[in-house]
Amino acid sequence: MEKTAINNYINAHKDRFLNELLSLLKIPSISADSNYKNDVVNTAEAIKQRLIEAGADKVELSETDGFPVVYGEKIIDPKKPTVVVYGHYDVQPADPLNLWDSPPFEPIIKKTPIHPDGAIFARGACDDKGQMYMHIKAFELMMKTNTLPCNVKFMIEGEEEVGSPNLGPWIIKNKERLKGDVILISDTSIIANDVPSIDTGLRGLAYMEVEVTGPNRDLHSGVYGGGVANPINVLCKIIASCHDENNHITIPGFYDKVLTETDEYKNELNSAPFDIEEYKKDLNIDDVYGEKGYTTFERTGIRPTLDVNGIWGGYIGEGAKTVLPSKAFAKISMRLVPNQDSNEISKIFQTHFESVAPKGVRVEVKPHHGGEPVVISTNSAGYQAASLAMTETFNKKPVVTRGGGSIPIVALFKKELGLDSILFGFGLDSDALHSPNEHYGLFNYYKGIETIPLFYKHFTELSKS
Ligand code: BES
Ligand code: MN
Ligand code: MN
Repeated sequence: MEKTAINNYINAHKDRFLNELLSLLKIPSISADSNYKNDVVNTAEAIKQRLIEAGADKVELSETDGFPVVYGEKIIDPKKPTVVVYGHYDVQPADPLNLWDSPPFEPIIKKTPIHPDGAIFARGACDDKGQMYMHIKAFELMMKTNTLPCNVKFMIEGEEEVGSPNLGPWIIKNKERLKGDVILISDTSIIANDVPSIDTGLRGLAYMEVEVTGPNRDLHSGVYGGGVANPINVLCKIIASCHDENNHITIPGFYDKVLTETDEYKNELNSAPFDIEEYKKDLNIDDVYGEKGYTTFERTGIRPTLDVNGIWGGYIGEGAKTVLPSKAFAKISMRLVPNQDSNEISKIFQTHFESVAPKGVRVEVKPHHGGEPVVISTNSAGYQAASLAMTETFNKKPVVTRGGGSIPIVALFKKELGLDSILFGFGLDSDALHSPNEHYGLFNYYKGIETIPLFYKHFTELSKS
């Protein structure tokens, strides 16, 4: 399929493509919050309808122990290669709501300096409804113009933002049906709209919750203060001791399995255009911060981290209350890199936190979800096809990057299905994913729809040889 034919179809259906996405963005499919259960299921139902309309066969909501997977396929010839598209229809919670300039589930289009053609502001605009829906529209385009060159299977899940707890078993159960040649995912970022890039890795994740208990009840901080352990003080102390003066993580064994990348590979990563002044300006910080001896790309791509995601305890109401709390809590997550293992890291974290706790408090560590890191080869037909497709539509060869985020199921695609994933993202890191005012550029949305059919074309051609 040629670029002009693709663009003709997109131009003829531009407004509808946009309006359909806007209507999906109006449904608050927050998987983490049980108040939105119906909305999550309604979103799945809506996507099912859109897949049917686009021309997919065997479309269904396939049940799991959690939210359903939307499945659909088009098999044009069993001898041809099969692209398996993965995406997610669930979104992150919208809070803090007061920091949104417009309601998170009432999408509006606004221009920004980075998106002069306009961007859609809504929770899920970029992560991942906007990026996922590009695939359904690209599929429609290929179906209606009779240019689909190979087979395609869709697997759109509703629990990615809570760690995909039920997708693993579903994949194992559906192995036969998921047979294919590559997994195609748009759920990552490019460096900039004039700097296309392809992530060749994702970090893993180990997410923990810590509870520190001191005295059996809240106490008067004058009567008892100084005489017993304050769980908040202790928790802060333990957390602070997790990094040394070079921002190296101090938990024994934490780095044991971390793969040291070659200088050649680091040079390749660092050669991607990156304007540190722009980065600082965007975040309104006077300097970057991180592990000594590594660049920002290295820190976010090939090095593990430990970060507090939330911390609470004691009195946080209006005014002052002199109290020694009985308990303190924190949610702490670690981003992992090859060849760290999320279960092993969870265990050493637990052992560490329990062993450094002073007498006078009890420390309990509860692991939440985890996921394994992945690296993706640039030598495969999938990567080459992605690179060729982007080169055609951006007029620039995409650079190799490493994504700092996690998509826990990607490691499982390799393990259970033997398939490589291609991280064909079109968002920008500055699109405020998971943050207030999440948005997705119209340029990026249409660029994705334009580029995806070229991936199919190149992948089909490269798979012949
Ligand atoms: N789409 C993101 C992951 C991502 C974003 C990767 C940008 C690379 C670049 C995904 O939806 C996500 O947010 N994943 C979670 C995983 C979790 C909730 C288990 C993450 O990374 O925190
Ligand atoms: Mn996502
Ligand atoms: Mn996300």
